[in-house]
Amino acid sequence: MRKYLWIGIILMTPQYTQGGSIVGTRHDLSSGSTPEICVFCHTPHNANLDLNGPLWNRFVTTQTFILYDSATLDTNPSQPSPVSKLCQSCHDGVNATSVAHGYNGSNKHDLVNPPVGDMPDTTSWPNCERCHTDIYLGRAPKWLGTDLTDDHPISIEYPTPSVDPNFNIPPDLQDGWTDDVRLVNGKIECITCHDVHNPDFAPFLVKSNAGSALCTTCHK
Ligand code: HEC
Ligand code: HEC
Ligand code: HEC
Ligand code: HEC
Ligand code: HEC
Repeated sequence: MRKYLWIGIILMTPQYTQGGSIVGTRHDLSSGSTPEICVFCHTPHNANLDLNGPLWNRFVTTQTFILYDSATLDTNPSQPSPVSKLCQSCHDGVNATSVAHGYNGSNKHDLVNPPVGDMPDTTSWPNCERCHTDIYLGRAPKWLGTDLTDDHPISIEYPTPSVDPNFNIPPDLQDGWTDDVRLVNGKIECITCHDVHNPDFAPFLVKSNAGSALCTTCHK
């Protein structure tokens, strides 16, 4: 009974976006015994303020990332900005080591505030297969790791025409194309191309990439 009560509460939660639902996606880490969805990333109280994130319930990656570079690059990637570190809380694929509210986030399995009645060390129980796809599903998990040299550059200033003339000028230099391809403080971050909650355009893209429409929003 309790189980169905919780699912009811989650389904009654107002939609935070006009798009599709996170329910049942790869970002839905809930399970029968831990039937909450948002808790794996957000908490209503006593959140981790380290990244100034939206009521963040995870520990923060402390990794130093190897940044993208190439002979033709005109911008200067920096270490991931706080908003991209939110994603790397999981997608760095490394054990986190930080302390929040007296809990030692010694590995990826602790939440700052665990689901009701649970202790931090067991909050990922029994969702092991969601992250450990190598062990349970026989394929490598979709982590970017800490080596970002093979990934589209992030935490770069969107170039002005004088820096690189091969880019369209965004309608808002700080916020980008505010409907979908958002910039954060004028920079390209993970959420510029991805919407962590919305599976409408797989894999969690902010718009369809048919005909490379996502890419050509920026690239001329
Ligand atoms: C896998 C992690 C994850 C899960 C699960 C998740 N979120 Fe988020 N959420 C994020 C990240 C990362 C951001 C910040 C980036 C952004 O704004 O897109 C965010 C931002 C937000 C924001 C503020 C920005 C906005 O879009 O309005 C709200 C509100 C929010 N989430 C609500 C929810 C709710 C409600 C749920 C559960 C139904 C949920 N989230 C589940 C990761 C998650
Ligand atoms: C709570 C941990 C967590 C956080 C935080 C998180 N993710 Fe994920 N993400 C996952 C898991 C687990 C998967 C599934 C991995 C797999 O199946 O290999 C995944 C898968 C994905 C996928 C592939 C989806 C697909 O259908 O193939 C994308 C894209 C993605 N995440 C982007 C992001 C972005 C961007 C952010 C930050 C805005 C983010 N994630 C934050 C846990 C997380
Ligand atoms: C939110 C994603 C996530 C979930 C859910 C998760 N793990 Fe992990 N786990 C990781 C990451 C990331 C690492 C560190 C990199 C690695 O070893 O793959 C890790 C490491 C481990 C390790 C290696 C030991 C260590 O500390 O280095 C074990 C064992 C493990 N997890 C078991 C589990 C079990 C059992 C469950 C389910 C109860 C579980 N994990 C659920 C992400 C997760
Ligand atoms: C410039 C746009 C862009 C940025 C920035 C970006 N991504 Fe992606 N990402 C994509 C596209 C497009 C795909 C789908 C690629 C495909 O399907 O061939 C993708 C795929 C993924 C996948 C699935 C990979 C797989 O093997 O299936 C993950 C996970 C992911 N992104 C996470 C992230 C994270 C985390 C960040 C920030 C560190 C990020 N992305 C930044 C555009 C971007
Ligand atoms: C939000 C705008 C934006 C989007 C969307 C975007 N890019 Fe980029 N991309 C950039 C910027 C800015 C750079 C850095 C250019 C530079 O410094 O010369 C870049 C760099 C690159 C580079 C490396 C260039 C070099 O000189 O090393 C490639 C290749 C690339 N993008 C391909 C893509 C593809 C493919 C997509 C779609 C999946 C995509 N981009 C989506 C803005 C974007």
